[in-house]
Amino acid sequence: MANAYTLGEAASRTTGEVDALFLFITVVSLFFFLLVEGLLIYFAIRYRRRKGGEPSETPDIRGNLLLETIWILIPTIVVASFFYYGYRVFRDIRTPPPGATDIHVVGRQWLFEFRYPDGRSSINEIRVPVGRPVKLILSSDDVIHSFYIPAYRLKQDMVPGRYNTLYLHPDKVGTYDILCAEYCGVGHSTMRAELIVMEPAAYAAWREKKGAPAGLSLAGQGKALVEKSGCLGCHAVEGEEKVGPNLGGIFGRKVLLSDGTTVTADEEYLRESLLDPKAKVVKGYPAVMPTFKESLSSDEVGAIIAYLKSLSGVKAKESEEEKEEKEGREAPPGQKGKELVETLGCLGCHSVDGSVRVGPSFKGLFGGQVELEGGGKATADEAYLRESINRPKAKVVKGFPDVMPEFQGKISEEDLSAVIAYLKTLKQ
Ligand code: CUA
Repeated sequence: MANAYTLGEAASRTTGEVDALFLFITVVSLFFFLLVEGLLIYFAIRYRRRKGGEPSETPDIRGNLLLETIWILIPTIVVASFFYYGYRVFRDIRTPPPGATDIHVVGRQWLFEFRYPDGRSSINEIRVPVGRPVKLILSSDDVIHSFYIPAYRLKQDMVPGRYNTLYLHPDKVGTYDILCAEYCGVGHSTMRAELIVMEPAAYAAWREKKGAPAGLSLAGQGKALVEKSGCLGCHAVEGEEKVGPNLGGIFGRKVLLSDGTTVTADEEYLRESLLDPKAKVVKGYPAVMPTFKESLSSDEVGAIIAYLKSLSGVKAKESEEEKEEKEGREAPPGQKGKELVETLGCLGCHSVDGSVRVGPSFKGLFGGQVELEGGGKATADEAYLRESINRPKAKVVKGFPDVMPEFQGKISEEDLSAVIAYLKTLKQ
């Protein structure tokens, strides 16, 4: 499936383009390699010193304009063609496809979190309908990760403190591996996810089955944050301008800066302007905006950007559709804990299907006996789980590295109980 030369149908438009480029460079290089090496061997044999022969004088050649021109010209053309062809493919991969769905991807030690425009999120699994382009907005919450889809021949670093983008053209239904391709700590090798490309009908049915998301759409969350954070004191959404530029229609616009340069107001520009407003001040406005570095989390910044985009009319439709879907939904037991386990990042190291990752699997954990590092045993009851979440170093399970962070003070009593309630549902 992921092999370049198995003649399988291309999983994505980028697959075919990258493979063709790779093949072109390989074939041309191979041709010249064989030519040069072949001539080298031929000349070595042809002009060798023969036994018994008279030593002849080395001819005195002072240059050959024609020959030199040819061997400068041909390699130049070859290398320039590599560059041009590579540039064409690169440009195509980097050009935003119209109508792409935005999905935020956050790398965390050691998982990928996907956040959809409707406010839904998922861990280590992204589902998209076939034939619809997707724009991934990549970032990281801790160290540098790298988002790699071998079957699509696409790879992009996920860097803390900035956004990178990647465009997908899913052309074929199937399940494709997503790997982290940058060593990011002890759980690096388990940091994997799946890209599931579905028929549009199957995708719609899956969404239907999954039910509407629990909260607001991403843009809706952003709207609430913009109101709460006081942005509207200086920025109008529509109508008369206040202290700063209007937010309506800002996304995607060319912006003239105070130093005379222009930038496009894309995700990265808006992110930077929220966290470091003095970096790129719009011409004609005072540089008075405070930084939101401390007060907004990376998830919140993503939500605000989704909201600003919706103001340009780009993504407004989908969120409307979602709002209608949202009524009449009841949470099954453990549902809240399940959501917490996903958002807190527990699944980066713990599986729920019994497989062993960095830490013990959650499946069947509750109520069982665990062997501890340094001897002794413990029953994985509520008290044990509570302690292990609050202060993981107190009782480390034998054979696992002592790397889990403390959650004491970071998780409320209520949430802790919800997580334990969820772990109980996994005891089989
Ligand atoms: Cu994340 Cu390697």
